[in-house]
Amino acid sequence: MIKDAFNPESFRATGHELIDMLADYLTQLQQNPSDVLVSKTQSPDEQLNKWQNFVGDQDWGNYFKEYLEDSIHLHHAKYMGHQITVPAPISSLAALMSDLLNNGMGVYEMGQPSVVMEHLVAQRLAKKMGFDAQAGGFLTSGGTLANLTALLAARRKKASQDVWKTGNHQPMALLVSEQAHYCVERAVRIMGWGDAGVIKVPVDENFRLRTDLLETYYQQAKAEGKEVIAAVGSACSTATGAYDDLEALADFCQKHDLWFHVDGAHGASAVFSNKFNAKVKGINRADSVIMDFHKTLLVPALATGVIFKDVNDSYNTFAQNAHYLWSNDEDKEWFNLAKRTFETTKFPMGFKIFTVWNHYGDELLEEMIDTIFGLGEQFGEMVAQHPQFELPMVPECNIVCFRYIDSSEDLNAVNRRIRQAILEEGKFYLVQTLLSGDTYLRVTLANPATTIQDLEELLEYITQIAKAEVSV
Ligand SMILES: Cc1ncc(COP(=O)(O)O)c(C=O)c1O
Repeated sequence: MIKDAFNPESFRATGHELIDMLADYLTQLQQNPSDVLVSKTQSPDEQLNKWQNFVGDQDWGNYFKEYLEDSIHLHHAKYMGHQITVPAPISSLAALMSDLLNNGMGVYEMGQPSVVMEHLVAQRLAKKMGFDAQAGGFLTSGGTLANLTALLAARRKKASQDVWKTGNHQPMALLVSEQAHYCVERAVRIMGWGDAGVIKVPVDENFRLRTDLLETYYQQAKAEGKEVIAAVGSACSTATGAYDDLEALADFCQKHDLWFHVDGAHGASAVFSNKFNAKVKGINRADSVIMDFHKTLLVPALATGVIFKDVNDSYNTFAQNAHYLWSNDEDKEWFNLAKRTFETTKFPMGFKIFTVWNHYGDELLEEMIDTIFGLGEQFGEMVAQHPQFELPMVPECNIVCFRYIDSSEDLNAVNRRIRQAILEEGKFYLVQTLLSGDTYLRVTLANPATTIQDLEELLEYITQIAKAEVSV
């Protein structure tokens, strides 16, 4: 059995067959996308039933085909759902290679090229964000973990007590927009600050944190005996794609000596675009920034940069002895990544990023952001001009919320039904969100292959669904 599992010739044959199948798949999605549904929605029970009764045999081709058919197709031009990028195939090949080699790379010895590539990616990203040579960082497994990692560094630097040694004794808190991604609140709770640790600042009519309220919320927290250590800016926030005013947040943090963290999981990639980088003006004044390459920048998940204005801060978060991994716990060794990351065995995500970035240069990443953010702008204009739809705000990136309004029924119910009908039919894939209590449809235009015609078809299709449902 073991011999069979490691047979290089069956690997070669199956590998060729798989790559051929995937290349045909990509060709079909590029040339005849309308022949393929974006997703074939089945219930969890149907999928469970299928796979638990799936008999393993030597027909790998059939097995991979079944997996492909049941998956959601991000390379389809009508995929417009969650915030996850369409991987450039070369990056996926790098992922295949690194999966086979399985270099753990938490320490240098266990993945020399990927450790160095990760270092270079972090340095280049820091530079792209406008930081100076003192900045640096690393990559980690997703935005959620990245925010927690950065906020632990904030606590280490700003808290009056050494929580790492003594545990939490003093109520601590941070300020963040009420529209921020839930993982910021999750990080706060993991750090043991509880309900009172997240001070949610209201947003304005464009869903941006109201920086004019920061002082009031801060003073109130202090009066309640909380030690406020940080403020978090969203660049951008998840539901609407709105960018907080990072300059104003930086000024506020400077005034009160707070750690300034930017959750740029989705939208810090605007730094790659000359057209859109004004959205993140002030990002280089942050103490830490995180950014997911797997949300907008052509790299398969997970691949998240964690950048510190002062790279020294990244070494202080975790201070633990691990003599089986490195000889000196105190040394700031950029090449022994596990000293600074949650992960010990670490996925070589730098390789996937480096493969795309180093080969195609900044130009590809800029073209990607210009294309998908540009689609967001154009779709916003189309919706604004369409009498049967409305926008809650002018879109700022490739995330666009909108809703159908030409109905005398409850609009929330109408839009929920539209989303459900789209999901069930599978011709498009989009999601929904709740804004100020109202249901909106929400697209993330992640695929550069999406065209204006696709977007026109979407509005037409929604109108048809809405009319059909109203007349039922
Ligand atoms: C603003 C923001 N922060 C953090 C996250 C979490 O990132 P991840 O899914 O990579 O853990 C998201 C995900 O949508 C996000 O939009």
